[in-house]
Amino acid sequence: MRTPLLSFLIFSCLLVLYSCTQTAENAVTTKISSDSNTYYREKYRLAYHFSPEQNWMNDPNGLVYYQGEYHLFYQYNPKGTTWGNMSWGHAVSTDLVHWEHLPVALEMEDGVMIFSGSAVVDRDNSSGLCESADGCLIAIYTAHTDEMQNQAIAYSNDKGRTWTKYKGNPVLDLGKKNFRDPKVFWYEPEQKWVMAVALPQEHQIQFYTSINLKEWKLMSAFGPQGFVEGIWECPDLFELEVAGSNQKKWVLLVSYNTEVEEKGSEMQYFVGDFDGKTFTNDNTNDLVLTLDDGPDFYAGVTWNNAPDNKRLLIGWLNNWKYANDIPTSTWRSAQSVVRELALQEYPEGIRLVQQPVEALQKIRQAHTHEENMNLKEGESVLALNNINGTQIEIIAEFAYESIDTPAEADMLAAEFGFKVFKGQSQETVIGYDIASQSLFVDRTQSVDTTFAGNFAVKSVGLMPTDSGTVKLHIYVDHSSVEVFGENGYITMSNRIFPDPQQDGVEVYAIGGKVKLNSLDIWELASIWPATRPSAEAIQK
Ligand code: FRU
Repeated sequence: MRTPLLSFLIFSCLLVLYSCTQTAENAVTTKISSDSNTYYREKYRLAYHFSPEQNWMNDPNGLVYYQGEYHLFYQYNPKGTTWGNMSWGHAVSTDLVHWEHLPVALEMEDGVMIFSGSAVVDRDNSSGLCESADGCLIAIYTAHTDEMQNQAIAYSNDKGRTWTKYKGNPVLDLGKKNFRDPKVFWYEPEQKWVMAVALPQEHQIQFYTSINLKEWKLMSAFGPQGFVEGIWECPDLFELEVAGSNQKKWVLLVSYNTEVEEKGSEMQYFVGDFDGKTFTNDNTNDLVLTLDDGPDFYAGVTWNNAPDNKRLLIGWLNNWKYANDIPTSTWRSAQSVVRELALQEYPEGIRLVQQPVEALQKIRQAHTHEENMNLKEGESVLALNNINGTQIEIIAEFAYESIDTPAEADMLAAEFGFKVFKGQSQETVIGYDIASQSLFVDRTQSVDTTFAGNFAVKSVGLMPTDSGTVKLHIYVDHSSVEVFGENGYITMSNRIFPDPQQDGVEVYAIGGKVKLNSLDIWELASIWPATRPSAEAIQK
């Protein structure tokens, strides 16, 4: 087990190493294909998840809804396919499913990288930087050099199309080498801005307030609590109603990057209260609530100003353990599908639940439906032969107690679920283990697992199912599998690198019988056009 100091040193060394090597290593200028056979159709390219046309991407940044558009900025290397030259890439969407690429919004300049951060709508021109009565967009990001990280702002008066860095930057500077990822939002009760920002090695999130986005006052600090190894990054703080009650709670999201027990990059959250100054955790200091039990969900943050008070989350489908090595060539990394968050009361306490956004239903195509099937022991119980399983959505409900007449009780399955990306001898298994009441995704036999020593893993998460039914909602997209279990009580995100010919889907049961109450599978449409939009269309 590595100490936090060692993890931090390793991370810092990696950062320095990348910044030093980026010019030589990343001087790649790949021509983006505009050909209908290859635009967004390369090996492993996801069809309905966001990924950059080319080059490296990590965290989602600056998520904000403004004048009919959801903005997605992201950590981007305009010059290469590994981490470096950090700038903010940019895309917009009107439905959170289809994305339109826009030019790089904030570029690294004079050796200062643009690290992660957020964006707000400055409706009343509190900053004095807006030109119109409708306000403007302000981005709050970390300005990074090898010696220093401080918080800076930039503004846009044309719906995010062009940006100007504020002359008075930095707006918040502690003179520290590690101090990053500001999430700013409007705190209505006191008519002020609040910033949550990470002190990575201290395992602390600090809260600042401001009335003009330029001068910030420290209010309090939260942590160390929960998981406190490695480093803390990318906080987010928001209020949500507990479903079915009038109670509201505040949720603090924190990403942590660690080498402890090979965990790598993961996310945790805290449920509690926030009074405009201080966040207090409802749970004991050492309770760790994980946001996603798979290996590939990191730096997840939510949109400011989303319509209908929705709380919408997107996360980076990757893990710093092997992020720079995943086997794609001219582009690297993808974001998750957008998830809607809610709070739900369970016997063990209030927990965050996640559901894919409803708009994803728009890309459903060919549909297969089955119901009331009794599955028996053995592989290939039901081979879904006519389905091309590279780009699909699955919704299934299993009932493992409904076969337990006394005579058959000893014949119940011990484990059941799906095999996707199924080929001759390779597969990715999404299963439920009844005895341990746990959901798992096993990618150890998923073909290309060798690019990193720590990629071939089986992830497991507790998913109690007292009623004897198991609900799974699964998204498969060429090189990813995201599972939502029990209506979003648990999620598991995985990148998978199968042989593209391995498109089989199977339902399986091991050790006995299980009943499949219902099964729906949709092939999903690609969200990308068949040919590359013209440069003029992108520049608009
Ligand atoms: C998280 C992170 C952030 C930082 C950014 C740099 O993945 O390390 O803390 O701002 O990536 O690209």
